[in-house]
Amino acid sequence: MKTELYYFTGTGNGLHIAKSVKESLVQRNEAVELIPINTLNLSQSLHSSANRIGIIYPTYAMTAPAIVKRFAEKLRVSSKSYVFTYAHCGGGGAGGATSSIVDILSDNDIIVTNTFQTRFPSNSTLFKYTDEKLESILSKSEVSVKENVRAIVDMVENIRPKSNSLNRASRKMSGIFSSALENHLQFKVIEANDNCNGCSVCSKVCPMENIEMNGKPQFKSNCEMCFACINNCPQKSLGFKKMNRKDFKPYRHPNVNVKELMYR
Ligand SMILES: Cc1cc2nc3c(=O)[nH]c(=O)nc-3n(C[C@H](O)[C@H](O)[C@H](O)COP(=O)(O)O)c2cc1C
Ligand code: SF4
Ligand code: SF4
Repeated sequence: MKTELYYFTGTGNGLHIAKSVKESLVQRNEAVELIPINTLNLSQSLHSSANRIGIIYPTYAMTAPAIVKRFAEKLRVSSKSYVFTYAHCGGGGAGGATSSIVDILSDNDIIVTNTFQTRFPSNSTLFKYTDEKLESILSKSEVSVKENVRAIVDMVENIRPKSNSLNRASRKMSGIFSSALENHLQFKVIEANDNCNGCSVCSKVCPMENIEMNGKPQFKSNCEMCFACINNCPQKSLGFKKMNRKDFKPYRHPNVNVKELMYR
């Protein structure tokens, strides 16, 4: 039995899920591969022959990240595979992120055997949690992750009915709203302040190879707004214009270390 877990993560919530699934499967002596979606060549079809295939990703602006949608468009699997999506979110719900990927996969004749969701602390810089609140959300998310991991390991099925045209139309409307939100985010420019010491951590954790070092980080135009750079900068140097960096509490899932998020 072979499992492939494709994930996209900025601050480690998704990697924590992937690691949790892997741990349970390894205990059963099953082969598991963790594959960051951002390391794949998405200009061509991707064929997977794994028996169990998971797609794990965050909710951005009420939908799935653009790179995960591109991945879903390219994925080809055997009709016998157990395919699951696992969308997580920061409190606004992961329904839109789930349906956007399920729709793309079903257009490619891939039947999603089950879908999972978990609420995590939001990695958005807009949210500030007290330590107590953060701990409370993390402990609730762990209950959800454990429950979902059990279902994934046991290959529990819960196939969603194929979406009808009314559902798709209403998704199109919310898609227009989330595109507007996404566009709004894209216009927010991330920059380093004078605290930057040129350590290059931001460039290493950027899943999109969007940061080049030239003494200080230079941002290119391929940002997914994953906030990995902002949350992992040891100097709290990165942020948007007018962002209050002094009060900013960086976030990374406690079960993930910064090295696990580095791609280079
Ligand atoms: C740009 C951006 C947009 C987001 N939009 C939403 C949203 O619409 N709804 C929501 O519940 N969470 C939203 N979040 C929160 C993330 O989905 C959540 O924190 C997720 O677990 C982060 O996963 P990661 O740690 O694997 O990167 C957003 C985060 C970012 C960075
Ligand atoms: S991680 Fe922070 S301190 Fe290091 S290079 Fe990037 S902005 Fe500068
Ligand atoms: S530049 Fe920062 S926010 Fe944008 S993709 Fe890279 S790490 Fe994520």
